[in-house]
Amino acid sequence: MLELENLTVRFGGLTAVNAVSLKVGSEDVMGLVGPNGAGKTTLFNAISGLARPTAGAIRFGGSSILRLPIHQRARLGIGRTFQIPQPLHELTVRENLIVAQRFGTGSVDQRRIDEVLDFTSLADKAERNAANELALTELKALEVAKALATNPSLLLLDEVLAGLETKGKRRFIGMLKELHARFRVGILIIEHDIETISSLCQRVAVLNFGQLIADGTPDAVFRDPEVVRSYTGASHA
Ligand SMILES: Nc1ncnc2c1ncn2[C@@H]1O[C@H](COP(=O)(O)OP(=O)(O)O)[C@@H](O)[C@H]1O
Ligand SMILES: [Mg+2]
Repeated sequence: MLELENLTVRFGGLTAVNAVSLKVGSEDVMGLVGPNGAGKTTLFNAISGLARPTAGAIRFGGSSILRLPIHQRARLGIGRTFQIPQPLHELTVRENLIVAQRFGTGSVDQRRIDEVLDFTSLADKAERNAANELALTELKALEVAKALATNPSLLLLDEVLAGLETKGKRRFIGMLKELHARFRVGILIIEHDIETISSLCQRVAVLNFGQLIADGTPDAVFRDPEVVRSYTGASHA
């Protein structure tokens, strides 16, 4: 479904993403890990259209999406969440979903929104103000809900589990597994916690200094000495 070929993103002299080649299938739940500053978010930005690649190719469903603006990539089926939840502060939860859905699909489908609210356990918070009246877990759920409202076939999740305590995390992981099965979306998830990746993903890719240094099953990847070194070595944020 998604195919990156030698994808490179430079910011001046800094190569944030360095010749990354990667395929994510429509059935995949794939992890993306690596130290702070490794280029994970920049990779998501390049895929979703927020960062302009310096070189390389991005194909989705077989066609290049390099020249497409953000909303057209969303309409093709690429949904994403942001590392720091960014709800529209003046609006309710439901209104946030409507805005996201209109941006991502070009129209509004209240049935889909109700389904998504229900699925993410936000139904009874739908008329609350997004910014002031939600707890962190709910803000994270809203991030996922906004992306889901756009009918994605691929979801890019940027550290949606970060900052949650163990119980909240476990519930969220369950929700993501169910989401994958029920909405038939492929998932690429940035996440630091090895246990979480191992429980959620069949595959995991590792970025270090912008380069892909491993891609395989969590079991194999987390035993790879180069991966272990990148995890225990100094971070380079
Ligand atoms: N818009 C930007 N302009 C300049 N440098 C950036 C920009 N975005 C990210 N970077 C740099 O690119 C590198 C990768 O950042 P990022 O993709 O956020 O890493 P990660 O998500 O893996 O922690 C970092 O060194 C970061 O400072
Ligand atoms: Mg990041």
